[in-house]
Amino acid sequence: MCGIVGYIGKENPKDILIEGLKKLEYRGYDSSGIALKNNEKVQVIKSTGKIKDLEIKMRNIKVIDSNIGIAHTRWATHGIANETNAHPHTVGKVTIVHNGIIENADKLREKLIKDGIKFNSETDTEVACALINKYYQNDPVEAINKALKEIIGSYAFGIIFEDINDKLYAVRKDSPLIIGVGKEGNYIASDIAAIIKYTEEYILLDDNEVVELSNDKVNVYQGNKLIDKKIEKSNLSIDEASKGSYKHFMLKEIMEEPMVLQRTLNKYLDNMEEIFDVSKYEEIHIVACGSAMYAGMIGRCLLEEKANIKCYVECASEYRYKKVIYDRKTLVILVSQSGETADTIAAMCKANEERIDTLAIVNVKTSTIAREAKHCLFIEAGPEIAVATTKAYLLQAAMFSLIALKAANVKGLEKNYNDVLNEAKNLPKKLKKILDDKEIFMNVAKDIKDCRDAFFIGRGVDYAICEEGSLKLKEVSYIHSDAYQAGELKHGTISLIEEGVPVFAIITDDKIKAKTESNVIEVESRHAKIFTITNDKTIKDHHFRYLVEKISDYFQPILVVPPLQLIGYYTADLRKLDIDKPRNLAKSVTVE
Ligand code: M6R
Repeated sequence: MCGIVGYIGKENPKDILIEGLKKLEYRGYDSSGIALKNNEKVQVIKSTGKIKDLEIKMRNIKVIDSNIGIAHTRWATHGIANETNAHPHTVGKVTIVHNGIIENADKLREKLIKDGIKFNSETDTEVACALINKYYQNDPVEAINKALKEIIGSYAFGIIFEDINDKLYAVRKDSPLIIGVGKEGNYIASDIAAIIKYTEEYILLDDNEVVELSNDKVNVYQGNKLIDKKIEKSNLSIDEASKGSYKHFMLKEIMEEPMVLQRTLNKYLDNMEEIFDVSKYEEIHIVACGSAMYAGMIGRCLLEEKANIKCYVECASEYRYKKVIYDRKTLVILVSQSGETADTIAAMCKANEERIDTLAIVNVKTSTIAREAKHCLFIEAGPEIAVATTKAYLLQAAMFSLIALKAANVKGLEKNYNDVLNEAKNLPKKLKKILDDKEIFMNVAKDIKDCRDAFFIGRGVDYAICEEGSLKLKEVSYIHSDAYQAGELKHGTISLIEEGVPVFAIITDDKIKAKTESNVIEVESRHAKIFTITNDKTIKDHHFRYLVEKISDYFQPILVVPPLQLIGYYTADLRKLDIDKPRNLAKSVTVE
């Protein structure tokens, strides 16, 4: 949600910024803008729609030569998506771009109006801009610090001052922003992918540290005190951040699953001591949003079944506000690809404040959750650009498998520990074979592409898989789809089953497969079209059946989910949709 990129240096920033914005498109946006500064003026150009619309606009006007620039993709929150509300915003001598939400914007706006400020837009960003301008009397760091004292909320700001020709400023709190340290200049960006072409060195800012960038220097201030910061090195490759020959990032990322699974397993399988030991906890709360929560549901099944630990899965937007009784030895596990999901961050803060142990399963190492959770396990998905998560979700599920396996072993509950570890080593190959069957899933997509509704049914861990399969299908294909515990269907939803409605049945759990099968027969006799994915060849093939190899319970979901991801992908492709950026969605949901 919202993307920021900024540059100061010897090059003309225009192309660097536009290219950077394109790399941030995946975050979701509905307008964009750029501010360029030279010794004479600041030029602001904005457009609704896609970045190519901004580029067209820039081709049709005289764009100044410059040495400083900030640019932004906006996902509308305060005010509709139009040019006036698009960033950058300028008040007086200050021009800013902003990611995040200023919660007390209305109160601040009222006060500033009383001071005589006239606002053009409906945005909270313009309010922040006016506040910095109000305090600006030749000392930018002081002005920013004074403004921050009054601002409540989350923010990453890129800031230029009309009368400062050789500096660019930035600050962040609860919103991502990294500082790129380059040879030909310095950068700010919401995500390293936006600037990796120019530099792999970056600095992470803590909350409210103000950074002052010039062509060849980066100064970071805490208050007005200059501090030292460590320069980190990213191992992101340019290839990983680009689509290559694939039609969409989503397909590329699904096809990368064997590779990233291998990378993650290599890291942990021979070093199981690196896997956080959850066996000492009596209760685990898994808190996350969307797909990350569904990966957590797989985790819950494994932790309960295999390691005998009481476990709850909660959606972070509820957990953060509800009364949570931490009355036993509780661990809170946060799951997040981006590590920047606002609700998941809030849930983590809640647990941290209560001094409850937190463990994060995260992909982005520079993220807020990665930095603020007490313990962290990193998946090695690399950059995930498609809004619909695929490879990161799969690795989150795999990480739960490892956590549960280790806990079960520590508790003496797993007799086949070494066999399961050995089996895991072959998992990427097995997964690759399934992805090679892509034609089969393309044909399923042909079969369902025109339907209005679809349903997914399963029990236990199969139900957790259904939730993800259903989300994948609906978010990219816009076909209405829901997942149900198979036994729950006849308590209402079965009235929606009519001739030809696709029902996907996931049947992998031996203990309850007969029960799910009878639910399948219930819907089939109401003329639903049954698509079964199972690891058991005795399960009847009704309309379509895909058999995956039966492996240990710990890792079975890893073979079942990818077919569902491909079905979602191909269905959306046949419907000619904007697969990597589905409507209304953003990759990292940094607001509530
Ligand atoms: O970055 P996170 O893992 O915290 O994101 C959580 C959800 O927004 C995310 O999993 C979302 O449901 C997926 N993009 C859907 O494919």
